[in-house]
Amino acid sequence: MDTLWLIGLAVTVGLFPPLIWVLRSFNEWKYCHQYSTSKTARKLPPGHMGWPIIGELLDFLWCFKFTLKPDDFIWKRRAKYGDTGIYRTHLFGSPSIITCSPEANRFVTARAIEDDTFAPGWPSPELIGVNSIAMVEGLQHKRIRRYLMEAVNSPESLARIFVKLQPLFKAALKNWALKGSITAADEANQLTFHNICTLLFSYSNAPLLEKMERIYRGLRGGIRAQPINLPGTALHHALKCRKELSSILLSEMHDRRVNKENSKDDFLQVLMDSVDSNGDKLSEEEILDNIVSIILGGYASTANSITWALYYLAKYPAVLQKLKEENVSIRLKKKEDEILTYEDVKSMDYTSKVIDEVIRLANISAFVFRTASKDEEFNGYTIPKGWKVIVWLRANHVDPQYYHNPMEFNPDRWDGLIVKLGVYYVFGGGPRLCPGNNLVRMELFMFLHQVCIDYKWELSNPNASIHFLPYSRAIDGVKMTFRDM
Ligand code: HEM
Repeated sequence: MDTLWLIGLAVTVGLFPPLIWVLRSFNEWKYCHQYSTSKTARKLPPGHMGWPIIGELLDFLWCFKFTLKPDDFIWKRRAKYGDTGIYRTHLFGSPSIITCSPEANRFVTARAIEDDTFAPGWPSPELIGVNSIAMVEGLQHKRIRRYLMEAVNSPESLARIFVKLQPLFKAALKNWALKGSITAADEANQLTFHNICTLLFSYSNAPLLEKMERIYRGLRGGIRAQPINLPGTALHHALKCRKELSSILLSEMHDRRVNKENSKDDFLQVLMDSVDSNGDKLSEEEILDNIVSIILGGYASTANSITWALYYLAKYPAVLQKLKEENVSIRLKKKEDEILTYEDVKSMDYTSKVIDEVIRLANISAFVFRTASKDEEFNGYTIPKGWKVIVWLRANHVDPQYYHNPMEFNPDRWDGLIVKLGVYYVFGGGPRLCPGNNLVRMELFMFLHQVCIDYKWELSNPNASIHFLPYSRAIDGVKMTFRDM
């Protein structure tokens, strides 16, 4: 019996290393073999394809979920394979190329508009819509983008935002102070949703806002879900929400078309009325898909930025003090009840640096995705056709070779700091540069102006751990006491 047991143990121990070797080699062989044997001798970037099916997901989760050190994922690869700025891997179910140097990130994202080598990598075209700016490519992308920029990013539009949003910020902050203790993430979400619905469709009544928020949550649930459309699944529910949103917006557009008196001063109206130089307008479907894109791109990202701003300012009182000094000096030049304007922000240097620093350190968009539609070469490495490309934006934002003591929240670092192209890539770059970059900055100017002068706040759990999935956030949602000054 003992002998049998020993033989069994010996066989198991003996088989274990070859089994591991086979499992570790399987993905490498499956995805990379053809490149090493190819007559044209194409070279894949360094890296490893991980285990069958899951690839390197465990290592990703180890860094992002268990050790809560997300940047180790890239540091480990730099240490092991060299600082090539490009690695091969298998993540989120696909063979993938990670780009993480400023040059490699720009190589993928900042290409001419007509170049469709790297197609957008959003997961659910049926939810976002096939006409969405985030889905279309080439000249069609350029066309849609022109309309969207006029609605969201033109100086006239940005100036109007100041008039529309400041009363909403004022009311919300007053309400937070009345509550006395708040969870900043929840309050910022509610405030931002109200803001975006006001800017998009001039919706402000509470039942309608609640209905829109329920629809939004359903949609967002579907974006992160498994692609299975059966009753009861998140995708199925999301598609129903998408239908509901379409019918609300189509009827809103119809009302505005049949009766000009129903026209409003909002993004929807700009998208409906804009005519290009050929007399061309956006179709209803194009408007719908792009309203969905603005909500998905703009809502949570703005709410996160506001939450992180409150968090960092509570942790760095000297920064808050300087911010306050600049904003008080602006307020003192104004009559009572005169609001901050688009013109004012041009002189708010320190506030601008605070905003840059919040968005850098919070890494609201950690990565963006593409799919290679043909083989492409970067620095002698092949990016194979059909593979996903994960543009790892956050890697450069926390790299000490570009930012001294990168994890410190230090707006003064921006004094005279000139970083090379691609290093500060919080909004991406090239033809798909975030069209809401100025909108979110303006919202932060308005928010910070009011909050730093009129209120004081203190974190309830200053040592709450920071989590990174599905996005970076303090685990307690940033609970705080919040009072009038
Ligand atoms: C701090 C806040 C924000 C961050 C960090 C952020 C980040 C980004 C990034 C990195 C991209 C590039 C995606 C790519 O290359 O594939 C992007 C695209 C986009 N963003 Fe933002 N964004 C923010 C706020 C907003 C806002 C307020 C809006 C609302 C208008 C918005 C709407 C969009 C849209 C529609 C796209 C797709 C653009 C295209 O494909 O041409 N974002 N954003």
